[in-house]
Amino acid sequence: LDQPLILGIETSCDETGVGLVRGCELLGDEVASSVDQHARFGGVVPEVASRAHLEAMTPTVRRALDSAGVKLADVDAIAVTAGPGLAGALLVGVSAAKAYAMALGKPLYGVNHLVGHVAVDQLEHGPLPKPAIALLVSGGHTSLLLMRDLATDVQSLGDTVDDAAGEAYDKVARLLNLPYPGGPPIDRAAREGDARAIRFPRGKWGDGTYDFSFSGLKTAVARWVEDTVRDGREVPVNDIAAGFQESVVDVLTRKAVDACLEHGVEHLVISGGVAANSRLRALAEQRCAEAGINLRVPRPRLCTDNGAMIAALGAEVVAAGLPPSSLNLATDTSL
Ligand code: KG4
Ligand code: ZN
Repeated sequence: LDQPLILGIETSCDETGVGLVRGCELLGDEVASSVDQHARFGGVVPEVASRAHLEAMTPTVRRALDSAGVKLADVDAIAVTAGPGLAGALLVGVSAAKAYAMALGKPLYGVNHLVGHVAVDQLEHGPLPKPAIALLVSGGHTSLLLMRDLATDVQSLGDTVDDAAGEAYDKVARLLNLPYPGGPPIDRAAREGDARAIRFPRGKWGDGTYDFSFSGLKTAVARWVEDTVRDGREVPVNDIAAGFQESVVDVLTRKAVDACLEHGVEHLVISGGVAANSRLRALAEQRCAEAGINLRVPRPRLCTDNGAMIAALGAEVVAAGLPPSSLNLATDTSL
């Protein structure tokens, strides 16, 4: 029996994503990003993102259908990001999803963006063993989740208390005069630097929680840059990038592995834009191997915001037999 064809729509931040999925099979995945429009502001401007979603929605759905070689009428269910995310941006996707559901007479499922980041791994590595722990690291989130079931049982273990990990990369890149988004240039600079040259503080290290904090680290970097400039010395960009990055990935991987050990969980998924980071991947691999944990990291294209992740989660929700959302579905910024 053929599994249902799920159309997934994602508009929580600055990417208009549309995906088509059957079970764990990825059929179509198209993303239109407004990232270039936000670059000169050094961060996402909500009103700009909302307008870009509105303009990109219909053409992106069309491209996804074309690339998958299916027709709109073939779609069995529509999944959409209900939250968390930017309120105005979410509304565009939810409104579009309702319109498609109504026009096609097919069920609508509002799903959680964070869980979508985990579900997408199934499109690359097959069904996710249960239970699993996920570390989600992007410009908007830094969360540790315990998943007993993707569709029905997800528990938040911890979160950032201030900046998200990617946000810290973006802000530190700005301090170092590197372009936005800051993750890739810092990743590159760090490879040329010495991670032991400068030791930056590790936020919430050993505090017995699974929460994170990166704003103190960002301030420490800012101080370092200021002092160096004041003393008339050249700013050692590569060493600062390497030291900053080491602080971030040290805490992320330590807490993720600790959570797995405490909960007796053997599978860790790392996803979100920051999962593309080369040092995070290397250190996670090393520490998971030492702890006997099976590590799954989706390819970078699937780690960043996209519609396929929402379709992948939609497929799980449909398979679990959960009831569809009503056409009054509201955006919801909680987990
Ligand atoms: O998942 P994503 O595309 O969008 C959301 O924020 O939801 O993540 C974007 C974030 C940005 O902050 C960017 O700087 C960061 O991911 N990023 C990286 C790398 N590539 C992207 N951070 C560290 N290292 C990278 N290689
Ligand atoms: Zn995201």
